Amino acid sequence: MENYINEAVEKFRSLLTEQIARERKMEEEKCVTDFEKLSKIVIGICGGDGIGPIISAESRRLLEFLLKDEIAAGRIELRTIEGLTIEKRIAHNKAIPDDVLAEIKACNVILKAPTTTLKGGTLESANVAMRRELDLYANVRPVCVPDENIDWTFFRENTEGEYVLGSRGVAIPDTLAFDFKVTTKEGTKRIARAAFEYARKNGKTNVAIVTKANIMKKTDGMFSELCHEVAADYPEITAEDWYIDIMTANLVNERVRSRFEVFVLPNLYGDIITDEAAQIQGGVGTAGSANIGDRYAMFEAIHGSAPRMIEEGRGMYANPTSMFKATEMMLSHIGCKAQADKLSKALRICTEEAPKYKITGRPDGATCTEFGDYLMETISKL
Ligand code: IPM
Ligand code: MG
Repeated sequence: MENYINEAVEKFRSLLTEQIARERKMEEEKCVTDFEKLSKIVIGICGGDGIGPIISAESRRLLEFLLKDEIAAGRIELRTIEGLTIEKRIAHNKAIPDDVLAEIKACNVILKAPTTTLKGGTLESANVAMRRELDLYANVRPVCVPDENIDWTFFRENTEGEYVLGSRGVAIPDTLAFDFKVTTKEGTKRIARAAFEYARKNGKTNVAIVTKANIMKKTDGMFSELCHEVAADYPEITAEDWYIDIMTANLVNERVRSRFEVFVLPNLYGDIITDEAAQIQGGVGTAGSANIGDRYAMFEAIHGSAPRMIEEGRGMYANPTSMFKATEMMLSHIGCKAQADKLSKALRICTEEAPKYKITGRPDGATCTEFGDYLMETISKL
């Protein structure tokens, strides 16, 4: 037992040193991408696993259609990145194989299809690794239900919390297991600034700081405190403290939910509550997600790779809506506002206002390609 304890203490010492160094690095000068100043924007498209290659191929087709002129003029390049597959990741025992990571880093933004995340073991999730490697600290997830006056934007901290050391816990066989949760000063301040800046720019007056600071006293306590420090620079915005449990209930409470606008929250709570919020909008298949850093940004569906659909031979009926929403967010991020607006309008028509096809994930619904065609046809008529 003594050996286990010594080993764990040594491991904790090196984790502490590493995380302190990470926090210091965040405070250093940042390299911020200004898309307007780039002579060419390279969009990398990662196919991923399961239904990923199907819905990402459809998104590529959509981008080729929407960005025809920009691509022809050499202002935008679409680059398909192969190799972010579970088979290759297992073979290399790496969340993102080195050659794939190099290709990703040679792009300005990434559109990523779902990748399979294994339960247990030590192979880290590709999502989590990409968020860390590209330092994509703000996970922005909008949820809108106009009929119910719901217009929420979640700012989920994306590089810390339970995730940063999630694959590097300590276990003593037959006895106990420890995982680590890390919150840093700069890591919290930058997500808080992103949330309050968004609120200010979009005329929102309420930011909910969602934690469990009554129990996770050190990490969430610090998160909440620092968010309030940042809030002091935004006097026109009300910053409210909420606990994650009651906020989870509030989102399904029809009497109160529409008063919330912007949420800022640590990584794991953000993961969980954004699935709940997406479900209120119509399901996880309907929501897109932006992972924003200073230099890079990655856009993805919020759902998984749906291996069961592939096993059952239903891949062609996969719903690409979540990837299309991610595509819309990406277009807007790189400055292609007109194309993003068109896509947004067409998506609303094709999924809510006058849907000609319904996607059910089964042969009684439209295929992914039929839906893609329908969407492009709708865009052409706008
Ligand atoms: C998400 C997903 C990921 C997460 C998984 C696939 C690692 O659930 O993007 O919300 O937990 O962040
Ligand atoms: Mg999730």
